[in-house]
Amino acid sequence: MQPPRRKTPLFPSDTVAMKHFGGPKKGNNLPIFVVVFSICLFGAFMYNEDVKSIAEFPFSRPGGKAQEEGTGLEQNDNTGPGRGVRLTGSDRSNEIIQEEEEDLLEDVELPPEECDFFNGEWVFDNVTHPLYKEDECEFLTAQVTCLRNGRKDSLYQNWRWQPRDCSLPKFKARLLLQKLRNKRLMFVGDSLNRNQWESMVCMAQSVVRPGRKSLNKSGSLSVVRLEDYNATVEFYWAPFLVESNSDDPTMHSILNRIIMPESIEKHGQNWKGVDYLIFNTYIWWMNTANMKVLRGSFDEGSTEYDEIERPMAYGRVLRTWSKWVEENIDPNRTQVFFSSMSPLHIKSLDWDNPDGIKCAKETMPILNTTTPPEVGTDRRLFVIASNITRSMKVPVYFNNITALSEFRKDAHTSVYTIRQGKMLTPEQQADPATYADCIHWCLPGLPDTWNEFLYARIVSRS
Ligand SMILES: *[C@@H]1O[C@H](CO)[C@@H](O)[C@H](O)[C@H]1NC(C)=O
Ligand SMILES: *[C@@H]1O[C@H](CO)[C@@H](O)[C@H](O)[C@H]1NC(C)=O
Ligand SMILES: *[C@@H]1O[C@H](CO)[C@@H](O)[C@H](O)[C@H]1NC(C)=O
Ligand SMILES: *[C@@H]1O[C@H](CO)[C@@H](O)[C@H](O)[C@H]1NC(C)=O
Ligand SMILES: *[C@@H]1O[C@H](CO)[C@@H](O)[C@H](O)[C@H]1NC(C)=O
Ligand SMILES: *[C@@H]1O[C@H](CO)[C@@H](O)[C@H](O)[C@H]1NC(C)=O
Ligand SMILES: *[C@@H]1O[C@H](CO)[C@@H](O)[C@H](O)[C@H]1NC(C)=O
Repeated sequence: MQPPRRKTPLFPSDTVAMKHFGGPKKGNNLPIFVVVFSICLFGAFMYNEDVKSIAEFPFSRPGGKAQEEGTGLEQNDNTGPGRGVRLTGSDRSNEIIQEEEEDLLEDVELPPEECDFFNGEWVFDNVTHPLYKEDECEFLTAQVTCLRNGRKDSLYQNWRWQPRDCSLPKFKARLLLQKLRNKRLMFVGDSLNRNQWESMVCMAQSVVRPGRKSLNKSGSLSVVRLEDYNATVEFYWAPFLVESNSDDPTMHSILNRIIMPESIEKHGQNWKGVDYLIFNTYIWWMNTANMKVLRGSFDEGSTEYDEIERPMAYGRVLRTWSKWVEENIDPNRTQVFFSSMSPLHIKSLDWDNPDGIKCAKETMPILNTTTPPEVGTDRRLFVIASNITRSMKVPVYFNNITALSEFRKDAHTSVYTIRQGKMLTPEQQADPATYADCIHWCLPGLPDTWNEFLYARIVSRS
């Protein structure tokens, strides 16, 4: 169904709505903008296929499956030998819990509050990384288990992010779970946040006994319950944060994307009372230069829309989101995070590899960290997100993962993944130009680092 196209702007400022998509740019904008815009358009064509393909990755894991595969899972005690499995149910007194927490904190050095984690470098460290193994985490989906899917090189698992001015605290699942005891942690957003959710689940679940952890997927919400700690690590599908025609958690393969930038309550009611909220929205914005904005509402059956320049629509959405946060979040109870955009590696010439095919042949990060490579990230959206999160009354931790991830051309799932719920065939794997996914990331891998930043914030706050 193709709704009629409206070219009348809703507001005088929505000038781009006057324009035909793909047509020449008219009006009085600066020439530099024309250039930026053309690059974006070019980008839109470049990315279209991949963005289309991400829409086709359903979260296909049925609820009970994880349990079945859990047999034979080995207990992985990150806190070192001697501790064993300690029952830490809610029947234990607060005093004992506090003691244990201090105990755990002993050899975890917390970085200073003001340290900027995001300036730094990737260092090879196969002693501490990966933080878990593929087959130690029953919750990993076939989308991300690159080794199991046939990837031969594994160095991509061994890189640790080293901030310039401090060190990230050593990751200890037990310490994290002490903080998450009786609490809910929820990722909200698109498939990249789902990628990070899977990572967080794996980082946390290693200290919970088999049979005491389970996945329940119901509508837009997927919940991993870690019973020993009465904690949950959750993912809520809302690729634009606000209401859109892509909100169905499985049947969202929609190229004609339409959003309602001022409408968030329907999703938002599912986020209330959560203790840790991690938001993102990016990849779904990238397949067209303009965003379609519904006139009216889906519930009323409206089909007319305006086309609005991407940054303008993104700003409207994030202002709606920030207003929701300020009206619904008690900062004494809930810690809020916003993740900046996860970059793509579609064009190997971006990192001067004429023999490359997208990200498919990359086994090493870009190690010249003078400046991040230009891989097509829409930095206008970055500026908007960083501005809005910084100016809010409720403190929002801006997880600034973009630049440091731009170095990680080696870390994508590439052809070692699924498509439309099925493993790529050997024929498809042999054709990375068509089939490589250079958007999502292998696990263990890069999203573990994004979670190390969250972990550092979570365990630093008493
Ligand atoms: C984000 O981190 C990069 C380095 O990774 C830095 O150059 C940039 O200034 C940071 N931006 C913000 C808004 O913190
Ligand atoms: C870690 O890397 C070093 C240097 O490449 C190598 O000699 C060593 O065997 C590796 N250790 C493991 C456990 O992979
Ligand atoms: C378990 O956690 C939930 C929050 O997810 C909380 O509401 C509930 O009180 C906790 N139960 C106990 C027994 O502490
Ligand atoms: C899964 O979650 C749904 C919605 O919260 C709930 O109705 C259902 O009982 C849950 N199933 C299990 C097995 O816990
Ligand atoms: C948060 O806690 C502080 C100090 O305990 C208190 O002054 C403030 O009113 C609380 N804020 C809210 C929104 O409850
Ligand atoms: C690193 O990259 C910068 C610019 O991206 C370049 O000027 C510099 O020569 C490079 N350094 C090395 C050692 O390749
Ligand atoms: C970001 O904030 C700065 C300073 O507050 C302002 O000058 C700039 O216009 C803002 N940019 C955007 C894109 O909102």
